[in-house]
Amino acid sequence: MPQDDDLRETVRSYDEHAQQYADEWFDKPLAAHIRSFAATLRPGARVLDAGGGHGRDSAELAKRGFKPCLLDLSAGLLAEARARGVDVCMVQGDLRALPFRDRSFDGVWACASLVHLERAQIPGALRELHRVTCEGGTLFISMRVGSGEGWEMWNGLRRFYTYVQPTEAIELLEDAGWSVPWWGVERSRWFSAIGTKE
Ligand SMILES: C[S@@+](CC[C@H](N)C(=O)[O-])C[C@H]1O[C@@H](n2cnc3c(N)ncnc32)[C@H](O)[C@@H]1O
Repeated sequence: MPQDDDLRETVRSYDEHAQQYADEWFDKPLAAHIRSFAATLRPGARVLDAGGGHGRDSAELAKRGFKPCLLDLSAGLLAEARARGVDVCMVQGDLRALPFRDRSFDGVWACASLVHLERAQIPGALRELHRVTCEGGTLFISMRVGSGEGWEMWNGLRRFYTYVQPTEAIELLEDAGWSVPWWGVERSRWFSAIGTKE
């Protein structure tokens, strides 16, 4: 899928400051969310880390005995993952058009990655994540809470964000085929949810 200009500019900000971004976030795992997600998976489950960037969460999932595949559009962040010893399958690709067959994964982890899509692209991305997940599989997503879309500055470069209200996010998940057994909001800023494919 060709990248649109907003997403290309956002990914360029990660590519140009990949080491700095990874330095900031690689050692800050989302332990509680990983634990809840992992609890839904069988030992050795195949997991897609969609928009996993520097690979922090792929490394943690691999440590727990799962088989992660790290997918991201940023070649710079994937290089950071390799440089940090993340030893998992890595694919430079777009979560809106996943290069995987239907039902390739038991779980999909999409931590803070859908945030950079235009609002109109989110339903398709959630359907795409649903397509590559097996029946009975689990999704974790986190998104920024708010309304509208906008740009935020980071290191002199712009990143595009879509903000969602929890009710809207849950509706988007359900419309894409996910049941939502759990969701929450942290620091009024981050919406997280677990989805299941039935
Ligand atoms: C805020 S970072 C989050 C990185 C990591 N998941 C974490 O939690 O630290 C957003 C990530 O999503 C990736 N991303 C954004 N849009 C994407 C897309 N359409 N396909 C694949 N990756 C994407 C970016 O390159 C970046 O690595």
